[in-house]
Amino acid sequence: MPAVEIRPDVFWIGMNDRTTDLFEGIWPIANEGVTYNTFLVRDEHSAIIDLAKAIKTDQFLEQVDEIVPLAEIDYLVINHMEPDHTGAIRMLSRIPRRLTILTTEKAKVMLAAYYGITENVRVVADGETVELGRHRLTFHHIPFVHWPETMATWEPVSKVLFSCDAFGGYGAFNGSVFDDECRDPAFYERESLRYFVNIVAKFSAPTLRAIEKLAGVPIEIIAPSHGLIWRKNPGRIVELYRQWSELAKGGGAAAVTLVYGSMYGNTERVMNAVAQGITRSGVPVEIFDAARTHVSYILPALWRNRGVMVGAPTYEATLFPPVAQVIDMAALKRIVGKRTAIFGSYGWSRGAVETFKRMVEPLKWDVTDVLEFNGGPTKDLLARAGEFGERFAAAVKA
Ligand code: FEO
Repeated sequence: MPAVEIRPDVFWIGMNDRTTDLFEGIWPIANEGVTYNTFLVRDEHSAIIDLAKAIKTDQFLEQVDEIVPLAEIDYLVINHMEPDHTGAIRMLSRIPRRLTILTTEKAKVMLAAYYGITENVRVVADGETVELGRHRLTFHHIPFVHWPETMATWEPVSKVLFSCDAFGGYGAFNGSVFDDECRDPAFYERESLRYFVNIVAKFSAPTLRAIEKLAGVPIEIIAPSHGLIWRKNPGRIVELYRQWSELAKGGGAAAVTLVYGSMYGNTERVMNAVAQGITRSGVPVEIFDAARTHVSYILPALWRNRGVMVGAPTYEATLFPPVAQVIDMAALKRIVGKRTAIFGSYGWSRGAVETFKRMVEPLKWDVTDVLEFNGGPTKDLLARAGEFGERFAAAVKA
C-alpha cells in the first residue's frame, strides 16, 4: 500500500504481509495476514519509527524514499527489537548515512547480538525528548510489553503514540489503515484478541502498568506496529487491552470453552450430549476439536471464558495428546483460575483424568466434575452426559 499521511508530516509507511504462514514461526496468519506498521516523521530532522521484517526490506526502502530520501533521515527509533520490527536494519545499516538509532539500553545490547550493530546507537532515557524541528519525540519505557527492552514513542504536536506491539493485532489492511474506515471492525477486534493472547497476555501485569503510565499522556491517535491505527476511537483498543489484561488473574465470562479430542468418535458423541446440557442451561459454549484446530484459535476462548470443559480419551495410559498440547500451551501462557470438568472414554487402561488433574493443578483450575466411561456410550450414558453438562453450566454461572 502507498504511504498514508496520518497527521501533517506524520506518515504510515508500513506494509501488508499476506505471505507469511506463521507469525513468530508458531501462530497461523495465512488467512488473516498481518501488517508491519512503520512510521516516518518529516521535519528538519526526519525520523523513522520502527522497521519491518527482513522480507519486506525492498518495499520498506521504497516507502521511505517516497517521502524523504533515505540519505536525509536523521533518526531511527527502535521501540522493540523483535525481528518483525528490525529485520530491515541489516540492509539499512549498509547504506552510508548520518542516521542515529534511538533506543533503550537493553535494546542496544540486543542490536549488537542480533545484527552486530554497535555504532551510532544513542540510548534514550525514560521521559527523554528529542527535537526534530516542528515535531519532537518523547520516549516512554514500557518494559516487558512484551520484551524487556520495549518502549513507546509519543509525538506531542500530532499527539500520536507509536506503541509498537502494545495495542496491536493480526489482520492485513483491506484498503485502509484507520479504525474509522475499516468495514469489518469485528474482524480486527477478534484478531487483536488472538494476537494479545498469543503474544502479549503472559505479560499482562506489565501491560496494565504501561496503560496506567500512559494514562496522563494526551493521545489522539494510537499507532501500533500491527493492525489498525486508532484515530476515531483510540480509547477503544486501550480499554480492550485493559480488560483482556485483567483476565490474567483468572475468571472471565460465564461461558464455556469445550476442548475435545476423539479417536473413534466415542468421546465425540458424548461431547455433543455435554454441549447440549450446557446450552440447555443458557450458558454459551465454544467447541474446539483439539486435533484439528491450531491452539492459536483456542487460546482466546480459554482466556476470556470462565469455564473449560475438556473431553479426551485415554491414550496409552495418559491424556489424548492433542488435548494435552492445548493444556500445555495454556500453562505456558499462564491461563489460570478456571472452572473445569473432564469427560472421556477409556479402553484397556485409564489415565487421562489423573494426567489432566496433575496438569491443571498448578494453574489453579478447579476440577468440579468427572465423567469417565469404558468403550462406547450407551443411551443411559448420553443422558448422564447431558446432566453432566447442566451441572457444569451451573458451576460456571455460580
Ligand atoms: Fe511485533 Fe514483539 O514483535
